[in-house]
Amino acid sequence: MVLLGPPGVGKGTQARLLSKTFRIPEIGTGDIFRNAVKERTPMGVAAKTFMDAGKLVPDDVTIGLVEERLRADDTKGGFILDGFPRTAQQATALDALVHRNQLHLDAVLEITVDPTELVRRLTGRRLCAVCQTPYHLESAPSRLPDTCDRCGGPLVQRPDDDEATVLKRLDEYERKTKPLTEYYRAAGLLKAIDGNGDVESVNARIMAALQAPVGETA
Ligand code: AP5
Ligand code: MG
Ligand code: ZN
Repeated sequence: MVLLGPPGVGKGTQARLLSKTFRIPEIGTGDIFRNAVKERTPMGVAAKTFMDAGKLVPDDVTIGLVEERLRADDTKGGFILDGFPRTAQQATALDALVHRNQLHLDAVLEITVDPTELVRRLTGRRLCAVCQTPYHLESAPSRLPDTCDRCGGPLVQRPDDDEATVLKRLDEYERKTKPLTEYYRAAGLLKAIDGNGDVESVNARIMAALQAPVGETA
């Protein structure tokens, strides 16, 4: 399945829960890029300039990365894509990839929340520097201050979560990614998810939507 939605809507948070429930890997292109930045690989160095500017990384790099990740054995029983595709070209490439490997997409979940809540979620976010689990100062605090519950790693703020870069990311989303909603609606795959409310309520809506026929909203 694919998780679609603006920055800060909760894609990473829900991808982690779905990955546990269905025991399939979550593939977050942003997470992969951030790891590459940390490791200072050539891809990381190239991606960092775009990420810091709140821009999308070029399609050829991103598509190549997902193609390679989907070759791994752990994706054979299914996978959750968080933050890919984000452009028309990426969506076409995913279709071709899925077709070539005799796979299919079960659902594209479009999560939305009120704009003010989006900014609140992004500015209060903290991320584990080691395993990338997201936290929130108010709505999802870690048990110990600045320490990841899962791995004990330090919690940091993402460099692209300052207000100016957030606005640029939201603009990129509106211009380049939002049109994919119509693309997947036409393909009969889109499920609209109300992302307001706490993490568990949103997760319950997603689980219900996955069982409901296409066209019904949760
Ligand atoms: P990416 O890392 O994917 O960032 P994003 O799309 O901007 O989304 P976020 O990770 O910011 O938000 P999220 O929806 O995952 O929210 P989260 O669960 O953390 O991409 C970063 C960059 O990489 C891009 O700008 C681009 O440069 C590049 N990139 C990545 N993919 C690309 C692609 N396909 N093509 C080209 N470039 C690409 O939640 C946010 C906060 O809210 C957290 O603090 C969380 O604890 C909290 N929260 C979550 N749910 C709830 C809830 N229900 N109630 C209250 N708080 C909540
Ligand atoms: Mg994320
Ligand atoms: Zn961690």
